[in-house]
Amino acid sequence: MKYDFTSSIDRSNTGAYKYDMMPEPLRGSGIVPMTIADMEFSAPPEVNEAVVKAARHGCYGYTGPQGEYLDAVKHWQKTRHGWDIEDDWYVVTNGIVQALGIAVRAFTRPGDSVILQSPVYTPFYGAIKDNGRIIVENPLIENNGRYEMDFDDLEAKCADPSVKLMLLCSPHNPVGRVWTKDELARVAEITGRNGVLVISDEIHNDLILPGNTHTVFAKTAGSRCIVCTAVSKTFNLAGLSCSNILIPDKELRERFSERAHMDGCGCVPYIARFATIAAYTECAGWLDELLQVVNGNFEYLYAFVNERLPRLSVTRAEGTYLAWIDMRGLGMDHEALSGFLVEKARIADNDGAMFGKAGEGFRRWNLAMPRSVLEDALTRLEKAINELD
Ligand SMILES: Cc1ncc(COP(=O)(O)O)c(C=O)c1O
Repeated sequence: MKYDFTSSIDRSNTGAYKYDMMPEPLRGSGIVPMTIADMEFSAPPEVNEAVVKAARHGCYGYTGPQGEYLDAVKHWQKTRHGWDIEDDWYVVTNGIVQALGIAVRAFTRPGDSVILQSPVYTPFYGAIKDNGRIIVENPLIENNGRYEMDFDDLEAKCADPSVKLMLLCSPHNPVGRVWTKDELARVAEITGRNGVLVISDEIHNDLILPGNTHTVFAKTAGSRCIVCTAVSKTFNLAGLSCSNILIPDKELRERFSERAHMDGCGCVPYIARFATIAAYTECAGWLDELLQVVNGNFEYLYAFVNERLPRLSVTRAEGTYLAWIDMRGLGMDHEALSGFLVEKARIADNDGAMFGKAGEGFRRWNLAMPRSVLEDALTRLEKAINELD
């Protein structure tokens, strides 16, 4: 490997949410939390160099996405996803959660309904409910540990005239599905026929595990959709607060842009400009290595659970670095399970219930970390489970 994915980075006193939000008994214990979706790895060295160079320049003024930045975004979409985007298709926001809220406010009115596919990334619920819109769930179906869309239910929900929008998570956090072209085509057909606009959150679009292919929603749906992308998950740059919302349709783009401006968007954070250019033009090799490391961690987890933790099972991830682990076999309600994991196994992870009711009894583990850390967590979990008996 050319890059370092084995060293541990001390993130104490950096304000890292993941560490600040550690359950009290684990704070300062040296335990690595497996919660929030950022990585325990450094960003690519090429990005770090570009950031240092930009800092040396030292003039942190208002900065836009023109020129090299836009060329880099276009280059990445073309080379990594086979998607040709045009010069004026983008709107910059300071994160994708922000973009979801903007889209809800731009394309629906208070009291309208918005579809999400539960269990799903928690802020999807907030983007709808906190804006005074109604959440309509199109729950995913769990089929022997694999999650699938319920198209009959989607059809029925889209037929309700109060439903105006759907928030699609593609690839899906937390269940790790990379939706196939056929699945996305069915979503496009059903929503398109019913006049429901799709906001496709593709923040995990580059984190695709071997054997799977990500399909940009716009490639099946045509121009009547909004595609949310960012360097943040791919290169561990979430703290730079920058995302590219790609909107082929002029009228939709104008409506989204207008709302985004009302919400104060428009600038690319100065450092994010240089980080994005470096990431999208120089760091494909780093990403390929990262994916091998993450895939290796998933394989290690599957084997460990199969061989040594028979009461647990893990959903086979197709994308993201998030593992979805079924701990219902331990026979605890989710509060008891949370207590057990923190106090006995000394593990800080995410309670599946935070992604929706169907997540009760499940846990989400972030595997973007050195193998040694995962080994340590699994060994502690095994010991705590054995002590239950
Ligand atoms: C599906 C999904 N969307 C959005 C985000 C966060 O995006 P941002 O930090 O750009 O607001 C995450 C972070 O975990 C995510 O998993």
